[in-house]
Amino acid sequence: MAAPATIHPMTDARVTDRLGRPLRDLRVSVTDRCNFRCVYCMPREVFGRDHAFLPRAEILEFEEIARVVRAVVPLGVRKVRLTGGEPLVRRNLDGLVRLLAGVEGLDDLTLTTNGSLLAARAPALADAGLRRVTVSLDALDDPTFMRMNDVGFPVARVLDGISAAIAAGLGPVKVNTVVRRGMNEHAVADLAGHFRGTDTVVRFIEYMDVGSSNGWRMDDVVPAAEILATIDARWPIEPVDPGYRGEVARRWHYRDGGGEIGVITSVTQPFCGDCTRARLSADGQLFTCLFAASGHDLRSLLRSGATDDDLADALRGIWSDRSDRYSELRSLETVDLPKVEMSFIGG
Ligand code: GTP
Ligand code: 5AD
Ligand code: SF4
Ligand code: SF4
Repeated sequence: MAAPATIHPMTDARVTDRLGRPLRDLRVSVTDRCNFRCVYCMPREVFGRDHAFLPRAEILEFEEIARVVRAVVPLGVRKVRLTGGEPLVRRNLDGLVRLLAGVEGLDDLTLTTNGSLLAARAPALADAGLRRVTVSLDALDDPTFMRMNDVGFPVARVLDGISAAIAAGLGPVKVNTVVRRGMNEHAVADLAGHFRGTDTVVRFIEYMDVGSSNGWRMDDVVPAAEILATIDARWPIEPVDPGYRGEVARRWHYRDGGGEIGVITSVTQPFCGDCTRARLSADGQLFTCLFAASGHDLRSLLRSGATDDDLADALRGIWSDRSDRYSELRSLETVDLPKVEMSFIGG
C-alpha cells in the first residue's frame, strides 16, 4: 500500500467561497473613531458631537484580534491590514502589531492611516514588526485638503508622516487618493507630479457609494479612465501586470521610468471576481463585503469560551457561504440599500 500523502496543515485547511474565491486578506478595524471628518466618509452632520461611537467594552481586545488572526491563517489568509476609523487613535497600537507580527504564516502586515499621527509613531510601529503603510491624502494644497478632511489638518504634516514612515523602514509607501468631482480633480496632477520619480505609489480611488451617510451620486465619481487620461497627457504611462492575483489597484508606470501609479476602479470596472478580502470590525463582526448590511458576530463566540476549533469552524462556514459581489451588481436600486459605514470597517 502506498504511504499516505503528507498533507500540509496550512494548505489542507484552505477555504473558498461559493464563487470559488479563496480567503487571502483580513482587514482589521481597530476603532470606529477618527480625528478627521472627511466629507465623503464621516460627514459632520452624521458624525457630530453626539454620535455614539462603540463603547470600550464592545471593542475587541488585542488578544481577541490576535486569536481571530491565528484562526484565519490556516484558512488561507496571508495579509493583514489594520484600519479604522483611524487606527493610530487606538492606544498602544504597536502592542497589537507586535502580537500579530509573531503570528506564523503571514506574509504581510500593514496599516492604512490618514497619516496625521504617523510622524510620531512610525519608529515604534516599525520596531513592533509592521512591514509597510498606506497613507490617505486627497490633495497637496491646504485649502482643498482642509475642505476634505474638515478639521483643518494641513498637508505638510501628512507629508512629514510619509517621510517618517520611509525613514523608519516602512516604505515603499502607498498613497490613497479619493477623487471626487468638483472637489479635488486638480489633485490628480498635483499628487502624480509630486511623487513622480520616487518609489511612493499614488493610487487614485473612484469615489464609492459605501455606507449610507455620504450622499453619493454617480455624478460625483471621476472615472479612472479620466484620471489616467489626465496623467497620460502630461507624463505618458503604460499598464503594468498585477503584482498578485486579485490586486485591487490597476498599476501603470511612467514610460520615462518615473515610477508607478495605480487606479482603484470599484465603480467603473468592479473587481469582485477576484475578491479575497474579509473585514473584521472593531466590535468583532466579520463582514464578507465592503458593502454588506451586516456582519457575523465573532465577539460572542470569542467571549463565550469557544475553542480554537469552534472559531475555525465558524470562520470556514461563513466564508464557504459567501457569494457577495456588490460592485458588480451595483445599480440604482442597490445604491439606497442599508450598508455599513466605511469608517466602521475601514475601507
Ligand atoms: P496593497 O496591499 O498595498 O495592494 O493594498 P490594497 O490594494 O489592499 O489597498 P488598500 O487597502 O489601500 O485599499 C485601497 C482602497 O481600495 C480602499 O481604501 C478602498 O477604498 C478600496 N478597496 C479595497 N478593497 C476593496 C474591496 O474589496 N472592494 C471595494 N469595492 N473597494 C476596495
Ligand atoms: N469611496 C472611496 N474611498 C473611500 N475611502 C473612504 N470613503 C471612501 C469612499 N466613499 C478611502 C479613504 C482611505 C481608505 C480607508 O478608504 O480615503 O484611503
Ligand atoms: Fe477618517 Fe479615513 Fe474616513 Fe477620512 S477617510 S474620516 S481619515 S477614516
Ligand atoms: Fe469584494 Fe464586495 Fe468589494 Fe466586490 S464589492 S470587491 S465583493 S468587497
